Amino acid sequence: MKVLLVGGGGREHALAWALSKSPLLSKLWAAPGNAGIAVLAECVPIAAEDVAGLVSFARDRAVDLVVVGPEAPLTAGLADACAAAGLRCFGPSAEAARLEGSKAFAREVADAAGVPGPRWRRFDDPAAARAYLREEGAPIVVKADGLAAGKGVVVAATVAEAEAAVADTMENRVHGAAGAAVVVEECLVGEEVSFFALCDGEAALPLGAAQDHKRAGEGDTGPNTGGMGAYSPPPAFTDALRDEVMARVVRPTLAEMARRGAPFRGVLFVGLMLTATGPRLIEFNVRFGDPECQALMLRLRSDLLEALLAACDGRLADTDLRWSDAHSLVVVMAARGYPGAYGKGTAIRCLDRAAAVPCAQVFHAGTGAGPDGAVLATGGRVLGIGARGNTLREARDAAYEAAAAVDWPEGFYRRDIGHRALR
Ligand code: AMP
Ligand code: GLY
Repeated sequence: MKVLLVGGGGREHALAWALSKSPLLSKLWAAPGNAGIAVLAECVPIAAEDVAGLVSFARDRAVDLVVVGPEAPLTAGLADACAAAGLRCFGPSAEAARLEGSKAFAREVADAAGVPGPRWRRFDDPAAARAYLREEGAPIVVKADGLAAGKGVVVAATVAEAEAAVADTMENRVHGAAGAAVVVEECLVGEEVSFFALCDGEAALPLGAAQDHKRAGEGDTGPNTGGMGAYSPPPAFTDALRDEVMARVVRPTLAEMARRGAPFRGVLFVGLMLTATGPRLIEFNVRFGDPECQALMLRLRSDLLEALLAACDGRLADTDLRWSDAHSLVVVMAARGYPGAYGKGTAIRCLDRAAAVPCAQVFHAGTGAGPDGAVLATGGRVLGIGARGNTLREARDAAYEAAAAVDWPEGFYRRDIGHRALR
């Protein structure tokens, strides 16, 4: 089976690693991939957002399955373009990807499906948004309606801060067109968990849960990032909670999307707040989380390729997934300065020493090949150093031993990944 994997981050390296273990796989391409993925796949210089280029490549090579990592090509219609070209694609249609592409759409679907969530309202008039904020009071959450590269959300501690977020988003348009409308939400309080479900339009299978660490600094301080580390499973997310989320969030959402003529196929990422009154929906994404995906792939024992094919072909009701009882933990190494301005092109050494730590696995995120086989940092989040262990503590110790072995003076990482569970 010939597979084209779209994307080039840590999530895609973890997917490439899991796909490579499948006996069904005969050839793997990655577009654009990275220096770590290049060991497992042939990387082709096509951008993840280049829908026409990806479809034409997949058609020319008679690819059997296109696997899409990031959200941008999905909201841009890659799955629809693949379908039109007769190509099998793992990932939702553009219409179904609106669950991530529009916060208001996601809330409308969730409400129609009876999913527990915060009180919310959508505004396209800043004056009306301000009036509502003042009425509701702080803390309160202001979100750009559209895709804003994970930067469109302000959890405001005061009304003044919330009003500034409305001005920045709607009037100053700091997130561009994504800020034409805002969603204002009640602030949920509790522990955050990322839960994933594999969906075929009708049926769904739990893919497990992980906890991300979004802030750049230790003790969850500093600016928001794409995620600085993750571990799985989070002890707060019990099997009973998983069943509750499948029954109250995932299945009703799939039914509602099907009713709207936009069945959801792919990975449904359910961002949850475990509040005192039960799990409530923070947001949907339409793809694996990164670095959560790295932590999940370290625990998956089933054939990933087989599972993705079953999702594409509507066979999930007859599919089972096997997971290891092990715990996994991933530490993200980022370029100094991230998520602000950072340098590129610095050399990373001793990755072989990190990979040699027992139970450790090095995933590349923002890397490229330099001269003479050198590995260079090319992005903000550069490496995901993962490990498995019989306990979370063992996984953490192995991951940090491997991270310490990496020689990259221009990088940094948080030393407290897993702190909520290890406290
Ligand atoms: P999102 O881009 O929707 O994931 O939001 C980014 C982060 O903002 C989430 O991971 C939460 O930590 C926080 N957040 C979003 N919505 C809410 C809410 N209604 N209440 C509390 N925190 C929220
Ligand atoms: N780690 C969060 C995300 O992928 O959106």
